[in-house]
Amino acid sequence: MAIKHYLQVSDLTLDEYDYLMQRARIIKDRFKKYEPYHPLLDRTLVMVFEKNSTRTRLSFEAGMHQLGGAAIYLNTRDSQLGRGEPVEDAGQVMSRMCDIIMIRTFEQEMIEKFAANSRVPVINGLTNQHHPCQVFADVFTFIEHRGSIAGKKVAWIGDANNMLYSWMQAAKVFGFHLHISTPKGYDIDPACVTVEAEHYTVFDNPSDACVGVDAVNTDVWTSMGYEAENQARLKAFDGWIVDEEKMARANPDAIFMHCLPAHRGEEVSAGVIDGPQSVVWDEAENRLHVQKALLEYLV
Ligand code: CP
Repeated sequence: MAIKHYLQVSDLTLDEYDYLMQRARIIKDRFKKYEPYHPLLDRTLVMVFEKNSTRTRLSFEAGMHQLGGAAIYLNTRDSQLGRGEPVEDAGQVMSRMCDIIMIRTFEQEMIEKFAANSRVPVINGLTNQHHPCQVFADVFTFIEHRGSIAGKKVAWIGDANNMLYSWMQAAKVFGFHLHISTPKGYDIDPACVTVEAEHYTVFDNPSDACVGVDAVNTDVWTSMGYEAENQARLKAFDGWIVDEEKMARANPDAIFMHCLPAHRGEEVSAGVIDGPQSVVWDEAENRLHVQKALLEYLV
């Protein structure tokens, strides 16, 4: 049987997502009731991190333990992968010692090369181009709060990044429409667009992009820990903050989404992220539940 990898949102069909969300709801319910569930007993997940993480690492590591398996953390700084070992060789070797691998790396090309040489499924834990696990959790969260996302409108306010490109793929798979507004100089790279133009509309003005939408989405603008270097970047984003004024343009029951970490007062006002329309804590928690369903399915 062919190995199934999860490297971008479009790697799964709508039927597969429907099945996985059903499984995630059951798994979440069991977790809330402290009911043990160990379908991955004696199975091992290897997690390779080239970049920092809180949510991705915790959700995969805790999730694998909760499913009865073990998770091993490897960072590229102190493994041979970060010292020049060819990605192809690392894929061959690591995949002979475990049942599934999750990688967070800078380049999509690297994870694709690794997956092509792996004998076990590979999951993308974030690259420069895609963040499929986060957007899977986000769509699951939207459905929990507002029902089906098909036919709905979702706004993306911020720079064109891995989250946006994954949301674009989700718009096609799940049948919703994306309103996109990016500051000048941080706009969509046509080379990263993998869906037809009918799935999204681009707006020059971020407030216009929020009109009539069912969810408003943004992401951190400046890397955590590099605030001083990011002052120039902040200037370009002036006017893009998701605040009460922009939320007022969305539907009255619209939700606010952010994959975190967040800077209050930069990409989002404190009143919005800590307000009644915000679902950010559910989004973070749902990483755990959807990824457990994904691990179960792929292994
Ligand atoms: N949203 C997200 O991927 O968070 P981490 O960088 O903490 O994993």
